[in-house]
Amino acid sequence: MPRRRLFVTTALPYANGSFHIGHIMEYIQADIWVRFQRLQGHEVHFVGADDAHGAPIMLKAEAEGLTPRELVARIAAERPRYLQGFHISFDNWHSTDSPENVELSQDIYRRLRAAGLITTRRIEQFYDPVKGMFLADRYIKGECPKCGAREQYGDACENCSSVYSATELRNPYSTLSGAAPVLRSSEHHFFRLSDPECKRFLKQWLEQPGRLQPQVVNKAKEWLEGSGDRALADWDISRDPPYFGIRIPDLAEEKYLYVWLDAPIGYLASLKNYCARKGLDFERLLADPTEQIHFIGKDIIYFHTLFWPAMLKFAGAPYRVPDQVFVHGFITVSGDKMSKSRGTGISPLRYLELGMNPEWLRYYIAAKLNANVEDLDFNPADFIARVNADLVGKYVNIASRAARFVHQYFGGRLTGRISLAADGTGTLDIAQSVRADFEAREFGQAIRKVMHYADLVNKFFDSAAPWDLVKAGTPASLKLAHQVCSTCIHSFRDLTVYLKPILPELARGAEAFLGDGPLSWESLRHELPEGAAIARYQHLMTRVGEKQLDLLFDVSSVPQAAAPQRHAERQQHAAKEHAVGESISIDDFNRLDLRVARIARAERVEGADKLLKLTLDLGDATRTVFAGIKSSYAPEQLEGRLAVVVANLEPRKMKFGVSEGMVLAASGEGAGIFLVSADAGAQPGMRVK
Ligand code: 2FM
Ligand code: ZN
Repeated sequence: MPRRRLFVTTALPYANGSFHIGHIMEYIQADIWVRFQRLQGHEVHFVGADDAHGAPIMLKAEAEGLTPRELVARIAAERPRYLQGFHISFDNWHSTDSPENVELSQDIYRRLRAAGLITTRRIEQFYDPVKGMFLADRYIKGECPKCGAREQYGDACENCSSVYSATELRNPYSTLSGAAPVLRSSEHHFFRLSDPECKRFLKQWLEQPGRLQPQVVNKAKEWLEGSGDRALADWDISRDPPYFGIRIPDLAEEKYLYVWLDAPIGYLASLKNYCARKGLDFERLLADPTEQIHFIGKDIIYFHTLFWPAMLKFAGAPYRVPDQVFVHGFITVSGDKMSKSRGTGISPLRYLELGMNPEWLRYYIAAKLNANVEDLDFNPADFIARVNADLVGKYVNIASRAARFVHQYFGGRLTGRISLAADGTGTLDIAQSVRADFEAREFGQAIRKVMHYADLVNKFFDSAAPWDLVKAGTPASLKLAHQVCSTCIHSFRDLTVYLKPILPELARGAEAFLGDGPLSWESLRHELPEGAAIARYQHLMTRVGEKQLDLLFDVSSVPQAAAPQRHAERQQHAAKEHAVGESISIDDFNRLDLRVARIARAERVEGADKLLKLTLDLGDATRTVFAGIKSSYAPEQLEGRLAVVVANLEPRKMKFGVSEGMVLAASGEGAGIFLVSADAGAQPGMRVK
């Protein structure tokens, strides 16, 4: 097979927050594919970067009293912990806020302008006179022009679902300052996506067989071929200051490129930075026959199948259009969708802090992934069952039981392999079909085949019963016992090759055990020679315990595994609690929707040490909240009491159910938790200000 050269990326995460489980899922998917390609002997360049620019990052930094660069640097410093923790084998991690990205983005902009694909026109937009900035729709709220519902965002009403433009809102206000926005015009730069030549190119790019999943082609064509109101519009790629981004070049006026223009160029910037580090020629590496492949989530198909290929195509060489865009769905936890910005349910950092094996998660995710744009559900019971049954019970079990006999009776050396099946059909040759599954990102299917093979090997061992053969003690029975156990080890080696893209660390342990050097797909073509010595079996993987999953989901407990560090954190935390926190504005405070609630019911939660389940009456609604107050209150004491609840906290999935808010309580260094209450006379639903 000719050696392929692959340039592979994952979507660049915004640098204003830690990785959540959705990011980690995408990295695991891409990493498995990349490792598989490397095992085939292909040349792979796998890069990522932080997506550093844009208004949300600028505003978040401001709110924290930091410069955007300080905020981005803080987040960037966290990344290696996660990436190394989950064995994600990026060759480079960079940032869109980098000299390479400025150079490439300005170059691409200039080329698009030279190709006649940039136009300018004045547009009117809401402007916050207090903040002194133009407002994106998400920073404007007001009353819905159709149904009058209050507190609706500037693009659509959550109450009646109507879609409108921000200028149609009644009594609009800026969520940044509370001021009434005013209309102001400014000149904007547009990429002429609606140009017929551009549309022709995109149609042909989208329809190229094998480039995109069918669902993705259909979605992109809906946008491309829409007409009337839904016709593909030109793309507004400029932003006025203040903005954290890359300057539009050759312009007297200060204007910036919209973050979504420079973000994907960050893929190239990371590659360029990597080339400089490695002494490689960036333009040569980018050129044909390199295949350019992007792994992304389903929420950013639009950008990657319309804007991005069009930008690259019309910028011209050395840029080239993506060869493939692989789209995955979201990860849900026990059926609940998680939010984009803040993962609910599983914190990847907590997973690592608890000392949970990252390869359990890699395996579980792989087992549930296919090549479709489907959501993947993380189910704790299923997680335990799969990891324990498949990895420990089937795969690792083969090595542990066979090796014991090989060492006890046969000096730790192997014979050649014999047929696995009584009918003499020999070994199970799944190499081709497993390879095809990995290539097609049908990881779940690959795993089913691999585990079927592991089942056969275990059955073979059971039915040959080497313990009886060695007991019989004849030369023939001993020879057969030796062959049976050796065959299991040969098969274990095959299985290790198949699982190596998913379980790189486990494979390293298995390689040390087999004593045959690093395994690759090529290793399947030959087996360990007659007389090869294997090491004594040492534990390759432990079972997942239910307790670990309890801790993963129980937010009220502190992981034991990372106790020293957590202790230091707690001390810092205690010190902070004594000092009054940083000042916030009244607007910041007003973002909290605090309400009086009556505790209608309080119940113990089976299996939870610290939680009580509260049913809260908020006047016109009932909420379920899990509160970590069991150590200080018996449920019967609580029913009927008034409490204060943070009513606009995002629902949080916990092991025992979804918590729809948080009750306020005081605590100090000593024991005791003290619920915050409202004076008699307050009514459920009243706002606390
Ligand atoms: O949606 C997001 O999280 C973006 N930061 C993804 C950018 S991908 C690429 F274009 F950089
Ligand atoms: Zn409405």
